[in-house]
Amino acid sequence: MAQSVAPSSERNLGDQEASLALRARRKGLIFGAAELHDFLIDNAEYQAAFLRDCDLLVPMNELKFYDLRPTSPDFDFTAADWMVSFASSNHLLLRGHTLVWGLAFPPWAKLVPPGRDAERLLVDHIWAVAGRYRGLVHSWDVVNEAIEPYDGRPDFLRKSYWLNALGEDYIELAFRTAAEADPHALLCYNDYQLERIGAYDNQRREGTLKLLDKLVSKGVPIHAVGIQSHLPPNRNWFAEKEFMSFLDSVHRMGLRTIISEFEVGEESLPLDIAERDALVAQIAEDFLTPVLTHPSLSMVVTWGLSDRYTYRITYSPRSDGFPPRPLPIDAAFQRKPLWWAMARALDNAPGRAPLLGPLVTNPPGSQNSPG
Ligand code: XIL
Repeated sequence: MAQSVAPSSERNLGDQEASLALRARRKGLIFGAAELHDFLIDNAEYQAAFLRDCDLLVPMNELKFYDLRPTSPDFDFTAADWMVSFASSNHLLLRGHTLVWGLAFPPWAKLVPPGRDAERLLVDHIWAVAGRYRGLVHSWDVVNEAIEPYDGRPDFLRKSYWLNALGEDYIELAFRTAAEADPHALLCYNDYQLERIGAYDNQRREGTLKLLDKLVSKGVPIHAVGIQSHLPPNRNWFAEKEFMSFLDSVHRMGLRTIISEFEVGEESLPLDIAERDALVAQIAEDFLTPVLTHPSLSMVVTWGLSDRYTYRITYSPRSDGFPPRPLPIDAAFQRKPLWWAMARALDNAPGRAPLLGPLVTNPPGSQNSPG
């Protein structure tokens, strides 16, 4: 578990030097980051930087449906296998992202007819992926981004291939199948924009709570909620009161929470690096300090670790064309003010029981794929 992965040399370092992973571990939290295979492989310097700060790895894309099966039903596990073995050979916990998502879904699969064929596609996919890595995954994002109030449904569920093909029960089926395919993993629901001010954001929280409540009351195996936390580059965006009460509601259902894709958008912040880094650090600290006090909070995961490789270079470029700086270490892998803000928030967090896996106490009888 997280406590056992510290290199022994790290335990004696002074507080200034302590990694984010160690600071988190001291509080019963887990700290890690997502990254792409292409940036880690053959990159000893970045691997060392990653291992210095992280106890957990999320393969950023390699486990997604689209990336495993882009053009046909056949799987290509090459990159995913490398990520899983990088994690296990370096004693990193592994977070699986993601089994069922309306996006990252290839055109060939959209042609699978609704009903029985779609059900077989979902079940077989989960068995193939979660079953392959059974026992190696600390937590799985079983379903990603199922809520979208703009889609106009009273339950705020997102219109997607899966909703259309199987109705709302696709979510329950995904969790039940994942629990069978890997009874050792913690099973998570993951979504974005749960922390901001606004009527739309209230609906996102409301839709998410209704969905979770339904799953929990039906006895569906679900253990935690991933809150993506791609923070916006503004002030006065954080619905602190509503968000803390959202966390309370999730906790009352017996679920833990995870900051699962943390970074700070900075595309509209000033170009000056000192000024920009200070604002990014402030935005992060204003969010993390209260949130890390919450007893449900179990893990903090950043979406990337170094500015050199952030997906925002292509997804949210700055209009001035300069490189974005949304992550805790810079392009030369040096700590930034954001790193120190995260360190302070972790240091100020109260201790809690670590989120250990597996939590499934009654694993289903079947150990074999229904194939
Ligand atoms: C993003 C990746 O970072 C990109 O490399 C990829 O091209 C698209 O997906 N919410 C999620 C993540 O759950 O899977 C997304 O990751 C970012 C938003």
